[in-house]
Parts: sequence; C-alpha cells; structure tokens
Amino acid sequence: MTRNIALNDEVSPVPRLPAALAGRSIVLVGLMGAGKTSVGRRLAARLGLPFVDADSEIEQAAGCSVGEIFERYGEPEFREGERRVITRLLAGEPQVIATGGGAFVCAETRAAIRREAISLWLRCPHSVLVRRVTGRPHRPLINQGDPGEVLARLIEQRHPIYAEADVIVDCNDDGIEHTVSRVQQALLSYVPPRRLSVVLPSARYEVVVGDGLIDRAGALLGAVLPQKRVVVITDETVAGLHLPRLLASFGECSIACEMFVVPAGERSKNLDQYAELVCGLLARGVERRTSVVALGGGVIGDLAGFVAASTMRGLPFVQIPTTLLSQVDSSVGGKTGVNTPQGKNLVGAFHQPIAVLADVGVLRTLPERELRAGYAEIVKTGLIGDAGFFAWCEENGAGLLGGDIGLQSEAVLRACAFKAAVVGDDEREMKPNDGRALLNLGHSFGHALEAEYGYDGRLLHGEAVGIGLGLAFGLSVRLGHCDGVDRERVLNHLHGVGLLAELHQLNRRFSAESLIGHMARDKKVRDGRLNFVLVRGIGQAFTSREVPREEVVALLREAGCEA
Ligand SMILES: NC(=O)c1ccc[n+]([C@@H]2O[C@H](COP(=O)([O-])OP(=O)(O)OC[C@H]3O[C@@H](n4cnc5c(N)ncnc54)[C@H](O)[C@@H]3O)[C@@H](O)[C@H]2O)c1
Repeated sequence: MTRNIALNDEVSPVPRLPAALAGRSIVLVGLMGAGKTSVGRRLAARLGLPFVDADSEIEQAAGCSVGEIFERYGEPEFREGERRVITRLLAGEPQVIATGGGAFVCAETRAAIRREAISLWLRCPHSVLVRRVTGRPHRPLINQGDPGEVLARLIEQRHPIYAEADVIVDCNDDGIEHTVSRVQQALLSYVPPRRLSVVLPSARYEVVVGDGLIDRAGALLGAVLPQKRVVVITDETVAGLHLPRLLASFGECSIACEMFVVPAGERSKNLDQYAELVCGLLARGVERRTSVVALGGGVIGDLAGFVAASTMRGLPFVQIPTTLLSQVDSSVGGKTGVNTPQGKNLVGAFHQPIAVLADVGVLRTLPERELRAGYAEIVKTGLIGDAGFFAWCEENGAGLLGGDIGLQSEAVLRACAFKAAVVGDDEREMKPNDGRALLNLGHSFGHALEAEYGYDGRLLHGEAVGIGLGLAFGLSVRLGHCDGVDRERVLNHLHGVGLLAELHQLNRRFSAESLIGHMARDKKVRDGRLNFVLVRGIGQAFTSREVPREEVVALLREAGCEA
C-alpha cells in the first residue's frame, strides 16, 4: 500500500503552481513583520524557484543598509531605487520576491508588478505585527515612534493599497509552515481573470472576465479610477444579491461609494428615471473625476451609461454587467440611452466605459429565462460574422446554459472580442454599409416586437432578438440571398436550447402594418427607408436598404401576422 502511494507520487506529482501562473514571478507584499522574507524563502523552496529579498538587493546595490539609505538620502530617494531594483528583478527569470513594506504603495512599482508578476498580500492583524517588530532596530519607519501607533497608522494608509494584490492570504501566529501551506494553496486555487483589450478611436479599455470579480472590484479598478470615489447605480434585484459584496470590495480599497437603486426591469429605462438620477448625482456633489459604476443588466448599463455621459458633460463610467446579455453585448461598445414613448433607445449617447468587469459567477443567480435570453445575443455574434463561433454554440450552447462557468467565460470573451472588432471599425455607426449596424441582426424585428408588448417584461429583449434572428434569416431566404438549409440550422439550434425563434410561438396575433410602423420609427431608418441586416448564410451578414416593403409584409403574414 505504502509502495503504491510512493509510486503514484512519482508518476503524477502534485502540481506546484497552476499553468496560468507558470512563468510569472510571485511578489510578496505586506507590512513589516508580515513574514514576507521567511514565508518567501520557504515558498520558493517548495516551488523550486529562486528566492530574492528586494531590500537585500537594494542594500547590495547601494553598499549600505536600508536604514542608512533612509537616513542619508530620505524616503523618496529610497523608493526610486527600490522601484528600479524591483523592475530589474521582474525582468528576470520567475522567482519569489519579498518586497519592503512601502514598495507596493508606489504606483509605478505596483503597475510593474501587476504587469509582470502575481502579487500576494500577507495580511496580518495589528497585534501580531506589533509583537513581531517590537525591538527590531533595523526598521526605519518603526524607529519613528511607538511601534503600536506607527503600525496602526501604516495599516490605515497601506492596507487599502495592498488590497489591490492578486491574492490575499490572512496570516496569524499559527506557525510559519502552516502559513506557507496556505499561501501555496491560495496560489494553486487562484484563477487569474482573462482580459481583452478594446481599442477604439476614442478610447481604450479592458474587459476583465472571471468568476468572483465583484469581490475584487476595488482592487481590479484601482489602477483605472481617476478618483477614489464612485457612484453605483443598480436595480433592486441586483442590489439584494450582489451589491453588498461590491461595497465591501470598494471599502477594502478605501474607495468612497454612494449608491442609487432603481426598480428592476425595462420600465426604469426612461427619461423620468434618468432625470432623477442625474439630479441625485448633482445633489450629492459629484465631481468630474467621480466614476459612475453600473452594476446590473443591460437596462442599468444603458441608463447609468447615459447618466454618466451627460452629467457634467461626461463622467468616467465603469460597467459591471450582471446578466449574460449585458456581459456578451451591451457592456461593450459605448451605446447608452433610454426609451421614450416613440420607441426604444431613441435618446442617448455614445459613451465608452473605462473598464468592464464581467463576473461570470453572478450568472449563478440569474433566472434561467434571462440566461437563455442573453444567449440569443451570443448566437447572433456567430451568425453575423463567425460561422466557427456558431458551430461552437451548437456544440456548447446546452452546457453554457446548464451553468458551465468555463463555457460562459469563453463565450463572453469571444462575443466581446467580436463586438470590439466591429465597433473599433465603426465606433459611432456611421458607415453606410456593413459597419457597426451589422450588430443589429434580428433587432429590427426584435425591437418592433418589444414595442408591441410595451416593454412590460412579458417578452424579454433577448427573446425578441431570438425571434428576430429567425425572421431575418426568413427574409434573407425569401429574397434569395440565403439557402433555406442555413435558416433551418439556425431555427434548430434556437429551438434546441429552448429559445423562441418563430413568431407563432408567442401565441399572439400581430398586425404586419403595426410591426412595420414600429420599424419605421426605429433608428435604423435612413432617408425614410427601412434598413435591414440580412445574411448570405451563417456568419455572412450584410446591410440592405433595398428590401421592398411588400416582401416584409409577405414574410410577416406568412409567419402568422394579420395584414
Ligand atoms: N447598449 C447596448 O449596446 C445594448 C445591447 C443590447 C441590449 N441592450 C439593452 O439591454 C437591455 C436588456 O438587458 P438585460 O436583458 O440584461 O435586462 P435587465 O437589465 O432588465 O436584466 C434582466 C433582469 O435580470 C435581473 N438581474 C440582473 N442581473 C441579475 C443576476 N446576476 N441575478 C439575478 N437577477 C439579475 C434584473 O434585475 C432584471 O430584472 C435592453 O434595454 C436593451 O435595449 C443594450
């Protein structure tokens, strides 16, 4: 038996670090006395990596002790030298690096660590730190007064910054080997978020995708918020489920946070709610560097985005989308706005976010119907310009809708990458043909259906888009652009995952004239002519202004509409 275990150990050793962390240095941060050097040395031995103490490197380079550098040249000079040494260490082979307590506080050093390494904060309570540093003469900052008071002040100043570390491990006096094991375990279970850069003519930002990002929102946004003050706009449902965690993460990083909670659903996306929010922000005395954070689905993103776009002529804006639809579509690209009695999204602005945090973990609380509705926008992406992605959907759609976080992350990244590429080419939808307007595949019909229901929640946006996709393929087949086989394949997939794809499934009689009337009031009208996104096949969408009205009427009648 013993022999078997030994053999197994040899054949499949326990991985020392997950593959995603391989090749990166591990930088330990935290206050003096947290144990960065002793933990770091043992951690390095366990991981088979070299260990280096940044302070010792600095002393070697300067030819004197840290205390002497402080005394002779002052703290700013020391920090500059420290930054240079750490940058040099980060450029070398992967290793475990213990840093001095102030290193991570320097924004430039922090940025370099963020780029090149994994940062890990050894978080220690005040009492433990005091016991460990008292009577140690070589710590320059401690010599400035009573250790308890100095450490309390440093905790207040630095903990909110250490909280930006990738991984946090709580340390107590439970023995160094225990601490090292917990550090190792934390590194093993750390899944770095995936990132996508959106590069547009007017802006550049990152979409960060991962599980549990809301708990780390303060840390993840630390580098991009122009001011450590935010206003969160969310809805009642999302507030109950996810707001406390967001507030806690902002609190941990000392980001001042105010909030506005609006009723859930499309009915909040109107001019009255918009005006109330703008006046609310102004009454709270927001400044031009205060960021607006949208925590919610597409309704909140569109509403909060428009509030951000227009308050004081534009406030920084962060998207934390919480529905699948908003993660794969509405949070990227900068379209914001509200509905009016005349139609959907007719008042609004282009306003790009400074960051998008797509926490796929929040999809666990999303009702199944909402998840499925969001999936329609993923399918749409493949149908517009990525036949391979549509095939991926056919293979993985059921698993994604079944709650597979890995598949959900993959779909969010792929859909956002596709949207970012299209938007990057035509940010303000000015191209007459085949630019950003392609993203509206299925939306002319979808928006008309939503308008018929009066946005009252009986038909969700994504559900309307699903039917719209079916009709867009139907129209394309009717006009001779697309093979009927492709339409069947699309309908099969939509039906297969439980999405509505055909008008008759709504069990309601519509008037073709009334639906076309809604389309005529839509933004997609150019020079008074209806604009449609059609397809030549799966993954081959194009815009057309040549669609005869009678063909649309005939299609709708065939689909079960009255004249
Ligand atoms: N700006 C764009 O580019 C763009 C693109 C597509 C759609 N949109 C807009 O997006 C809107 C639709 O967005 P939506 O489908 O996300 O609707 P939504 O924002 O109304 O959210 C749907 C429902 O889910 C709830 N919810 C949200 N996150 C949840 C979670 N994690 N757990 C449990 N419940 C949760 C909400 O409270 C709401 O009741 C429409 O107004 C549409 O016009 C905008």
